[in-house]
Amino acid sequence: MKGILLAGGQGQRFKPLTNSVSKHLLPIYDKPVIYYSLSLLFLAKIKNILIVCKKRDLESFKNTLGDGRRFGVKLSYAIQNEPKGIAEALIIGKKFIGRDSVCLTLGDNFFYGQSLANTILKAKKAKKGARILALQVKNPSQFGVINYKNNKIISIDEKPKKPKSNFIIPGMYFYDNEVLKYVARLRPSNRNELEITDLNKIYLKNNKLLSFKLGRGVAWLDTGNPDTLLSASNFVYSVEKLQGFKIACLEEIALKNKWIKKKSILNLIDKKLFSIEYYKYVKNL
Ligand code: DAU
Repeated sequence: MKGILLAGGQGQRFKPLTNSVSKHLLPIYDKPVIYYSLSLLFLAKIKNILIVCKKRDLESFKNTLGDGRRFGVKLSYAIQNEPKGIAEALIIGKKFIGRDSVCLTLGDNFFYGQSLANTILKAKKAKKGARILALQVKNPSQFGVINYKNNKIISIDEKPKKPKSNFIIPGMYFYDNEVLKYVARLRPSNRNELEITDLNKIYLKNNKLLSFKLGRGVAWLDTGNPDTLLSASNFVYSVEKLQGFKIACLEEIALKNKWIKKKSILNLIDKKLFSIEYYKYVKNL
């Protein structure tokens, strides 16, 4: 399975912070936002990843993450200049996907919790169709919302004024190769975007949409505005200070996945950086 990480968009809600920088490179406490979503793909054990971003930000992403070799993965980049919708990433990535299945992940989503990696892996392994995640939030109307009957999905709605449930669809989606056929059928919505919910509706209509629920032990935040970004920073700060473990340390997950060797990480990091908290942690791994 390949991975596509979507890190374009205007960052409108972060202006003036995003006048010259992608919101995905702003900090969640001690790491850029994109580290957290990239760590989800690492947890899903996906090693071949396409990062979709604005042309303006390409060099900054390359400076931040490079070609992925230092994590034992392959990162490549593609451009989406206008935010024409989340589903457009699958059209942009058509060649990259080839004949494989794909996991599409939104660069501004933050997840943390014990059962997270297991649930993601289960969703990945359920081979056919489309698999989405589901979790409960207090105010669902800003998101894609699932309507269940007897635990079966009967409908999904994008940003409904009157949500039919509290179960929302966070930004990590797994698709079989049929997705290339389905995404080509989509037409722009009222807000002129190719909607990911419209794509999932095609799978639902074909009886090929499965959901995997994340329990209340998983924290999720869409870091889509300065308030939620600050909440995520405060959350990461508290957990990291309390436990001494880092959230979304890419080197740590790569080591656990046996994608890189301890020695090669140490060789790649400039020794001067070992006085800095993040690299001190990596060194101590
Ligand atoms: O966060 C989960 C929600 O994400 C889902 O529940 C919704 O169903 C889904 O439509 C989406 O809603 P948002 O309106 O919050 O998406 P937003 O426009 O904020 O974009 C999410 C991420 O995708 C963000 O990192 C920017 C990036 N993006 C978005 C669009 C529309 C792009 O890179 N290109 C785009 O064209």
